[in-house]
Formats: sequence, C-alpha cells, structure tokens
Amino acid sequence: MQELLKIRGLTVRFYTYEGVVEALTDVDLEMGRKETLGLVGETGCGKTMTALAILRLVAEPGRIESGAIYFSPDGDKEPVDLLKLKEAQMRAIRGSKISMVFQEPGAALNPVYTIGNQISEAILVHRRGEVAAKALSSVTRKLKEGEGLLGTLFKPFRRLQRRLYSDISRSERAFIPRIIGRIPLIRGLLWRLNSEAAKIAVEMLKEVEIPDAERVAKQYPHQLSGGMKQRAVIAMAIVCYPKLLIADEPTTSLDVTVQSQILELLDRLKDEFQSSVLYITHDLSVAAEICDRIGIMYAGRMCEVGSAEEIFKKPLHPYTRALLAAVPEPGKEPRPISGSVPDPLEPPPGCRFHPRCTKALDLCKYEVPGMLEVTKGHLVSCHVIEGGRVAGSD
Ligand SMILES: Nc1ncnc2c1ncn2[C@@H]1O[C@H](COP(=O)(O)OP(=O)(O)OP(=O)(O)O)[C@@H](O)[C@H]1O
Ligand SMILES: [Mg+2]
Repeated sequence: MQELLKIRGLTVRFYTYEGVVEALTDVDLEMGRKETLGLVGETGCGKTMTALAILRLVAEPGRIESGAIYFSPDGDKEPVDLLKLKEAQMRAIRGSKISMVFQEPGAALNPVYTIGNQISEAILVHRRGEVAAKALSSVTRKLKEGEGLLGTLFKPFRRLQRRLYSDISRSERAFIPRIIGRIPLIRGLLWRLNSEAAKIAVEMLKEVEIPDAERVAKQYPHQLSGGMKQRAVIAMAIVCYPKLLIADEPTTSLDVTVQSQILELLDRLKDEFQSSVLYITHDLSVAAEICDRIGIMYAGRMCEVGSAEEIFKKPLHPYTRALLAAVPEPGKEPRPISGSVPDPLEPPPGCRFHPRCTKALDLCKYEVPGMLEVTKGHLVSCHVIEGGRVAGSD
C-alpha cells in the first residue's frame, strides 16, 4: 500500500471545568493512496476529533497533546508531519490537499450568498492560476477580434487586463494584480476572473450530478433540498482536487435513496480525481458499501483495523462483533450493545470496552492492550484475542 497518511500516537484532550476529557488516546492509523477508509464507532468515540486533528482544527479548550500525522500528498517527496507545520503552511494544505465535508450541509453554506458564488470563491482561492489562464485566453481573443469603434475604445483596458491575467497565471500571488484586486473601482479590471470562476462553478455542479446546474448556481442554500445542498458542499470540497477528502457522516441527515446516490457520487469522484476518502460513519453497513478498509474506534481509542471484508467476515474485537450484531438485517433481530459509552472524563482503566465486554478477562481491567497484527493488515487491540481465546469462537 502506497501511504498517503500515517497517524502515530495521536492524543487529544479537552481541558474543561469538569475535568480533562480524553477525546483521543494514542491513535495509530494509516491510509493508502486512492483508498477509502471508514472510521466507525458509536457517538463520542473520537471519529470527528480524528478528522479535526488531521486538519489541525481542534478548537479550544481542546489540545493535540502528542503524536505525529505524516502526510505525503506527492508520492515522491518525504512525508511531512502536519503537527509540526507552521499555521501558514497548514492553511495552504487545508482545502487544497485535504478537504472536508461535514455532516450538516446547511452549516457549511453561507445563507446570504448564492451556491454559484460560494463555489466560485473556493475556485478563486484554490485554482486562481488556472482561472487567470482562462481569462487571459478570452481577453486575448477579444483583442484579436477587437475591431470597430467599441473594440478600439476598449483596447487599452484589454491590454492592461491581459497583462494582469498573465501575471496571475504565472504566479497566483503576483504583486500588482493583488494590489489592484484590493482597490475598489480599479478591481473591476479583474472581472473576467469572477466570470471564468462562475463558469467552472457550474461545471463543478454538473460534476456532482446536479440537474440544471446553471439555475442552481443562481440559487440560495435555503432553496435547495438537503441532498442538493450536500452535493453543492461536495462540489466545494473537490474544487481543489484534494488528495484526501474527509467526509464526516455526510449522509446522516438525508433519506435512504439520496444517501445511496451520495455514496455512489463519492465513490465515482474518488476514482475520477484519484483521491483518498476518509469516510466517517456510525453505520457499519454504510462503511461496508464503500470502504476498502475500516477502522473501528471506541472511547477515543482504535480497537480494530482491517479490510472491509475481514472486518465483516472475521471480526475479532468483541466491540466490532457487538457492532455487527447490532446492524439491522431483514429476518434477523438486531442485538443492541448493552451498556453505554463511558464518560470521557473518566474512561475506564485497561481496555476501555471491558465494562461492556462479555469476554473480558481480569487483565482487561487494568492493562491497556497493545495493537496486534493478527493477519497482514488486520490489527486488533484486545487481550482476549492476544491470548488466542476467542479467535474463531463466538
Ligand atoms: N468542545 C468539547 N469539549 C469537551 N469535550 C469535547 C468537545 N468536543 C468533543 N469533545 C469530546 O471528544 C470526544 C470525541 O468526540 P467526537 O466528536 O470526535 O465524537 P464522534 O465519534 O465524532 O461522535 P458522533 O458520532 O456523535 O459525531 C467525545 O467524548 C466528546 O465528548
Ligand atoms: Mg462526529
């Protein structure tokens, strides 16, 4: 597996008035290129926190205490530890190499701007050079065609525009266009940038299979259905062709048919843009549908990682088994997991799942199990498995 992301010993704590919340403890995880990895677990187990830590967006009073997140967007270069980057370097990665789609599409959209405007803005931030190149070729064409009185009248402006667009297309942070872009009246000279970005925005809406994209681009978020909004948010997240797309429960607020359409869409986009997807869900059956590998989390720790097939056919961790038994299936009575997720202010010692585990040993109550690679790529953190006691039995 060619590695894109390697997380080692990631620990996140929240320092609250009630005490210290152990949001993530010593999490290890790997992701390959062009791979879809599912992160599954009950509420509060640290799925979103893992994603936020990757983007370094853990908000106060949360703190990334220790660990490393090695990211290698360009296969030939040395991986960088995201946790060691300066904030400015991290900003350059966020939304360009790594982007995220959140659970609630409404929250990611600004209600006072049209959908087209919001996507154009993302395009102008992440693909300014490409947009400027398009604007340049259009203004050059106009200069060539420029005959008649109007053409002659506009010639000096178009020459100036050509110069500015060619500057931006050579360097996205070109000095003179940047200054001009900030001066009210004169910044109108750069209007073609907006109109080219708007054209790309419509293309992106078509890419995420929004029918009548031209019309939708002119609409405001409240005029769209939940599924359409989520598609628009996905369009915004992929404008920069991210190497890693994080989707945090993107389909939970949608009905079942729309859910499966969105899953298909993500799968197609992943292939088309050669991205990897970190898919967060509490629903194992959804993960099974689209993921190559699955990581199961419990109370801030990773308890099992393996290929989707192994997780379903040979689940090892008692928690994974319990999650699988809880998946509703026709003709089978789902068995909900007894007990509840522990209080993150006081996680149980030893294996955090031991109070709910039917197979728990004495050892589980005080010693944290290590990660054991049972078969290639299938890792589990469980004393019972380590002792070879439940392997193969139920
Ligand atoms: N602002 C905060 N203050 C204190 N604790 C927090 C804060 N944000 C998150 N946490 C804690 O971090 C832990 C992990 O939360 P996280 O949001 O990652 O869970 P999750 O797996 O995404 O759950 P869900 O399925 O409900 O989205 C939880 O125990 C939560 O209580
Ligand atoms: Mg979450």
